[in-house]
Amino acid sequence: MLKHSQGKMNENIQFLRAFLKNPLKVGAIAPSSPELAAQMLKGLEPDENNIILELGVGTGAITKFLHNVIPNPESYLGLELDQKLVNSITTKLPTMNILCGNAAEAYKIHADSGLGKVRYLVCCLPFVSLPKEVSEAVLAEIEKFMAEGCELRLFQYAHGYYLPPAIRLREFLRTRYGRTRRSPLVLKNVPPAYTLTWSTV
Ligand SMILES: C[S@@+](CC[C@H](N)C(=O)[O-])C[C@H]1O[C@@H](n2cnc3c(N)ncnc32)[C@H](O)[C@@H]1O
Repeated sequence: MLKHSQGKMNENIQFLRAFLKNPLKVGAIAPSSPELAAQMLKGLEPDENNIILELGVGTGAITKFLHNVIPNPESYLGLELDQKLVNSITTKLPTMNILCGNAAEAYKIHADSGLGKVRYLVCCLPFVSLPKEVSEAVLAEIEKFMAEGCELRLFQYAHGYYLPPAIRLREFLRTRYGRTRRSPLVLKNVPPAYTLTWSTV
């Protein structure tokens, strides 16, 4: 129990350091909670021909629960921009395919990986605080996966849910990929958040 709390505290400190170094790219003050991770992974049924691609692995708050969801390591690829976070997470989760890379190049990185088709995009990027050109580049990559039949899942914090950038993003995704499926509010997260899903499958 004590060891678990210590691990959680280390993860929080590491996340906060990454945030202080680059607040706009990290875009959150704490890693996602286990409850938000569960909601982000709810209903996903990947295999090596229908893999999960996670954008913005961070300290692995969602990744560490993937062992309950993926049948084997070939069913998952994670991308994270911050090399320090990648080094730390690959030490903690050595069997997971996690690469240091830019989500704005996700399509090529995935193609080069030799892994199977991306069926699930688990996107943890802070679109609201990323520079516009980065957001647009990532959305263009998402478009390529969605064109091949894919499910996109992301989260938005409740306090920013009705701010114009958040509304614009939802509207953009809705016009391209149809109806938005919104989860109940995940209260056990700092801050509380919704998960949102679009599907072109
Ligand atoms: C809000 S944190 C989410 C971390 C973790 N998945 C979680 O839910 O706690 C966003 C993460 O995305 C990473 N990130 C930001 N821009 C990125 C990009 N262009 N490509 C890949 N990762 C990026 C940040 O370094 C940060 O670790």
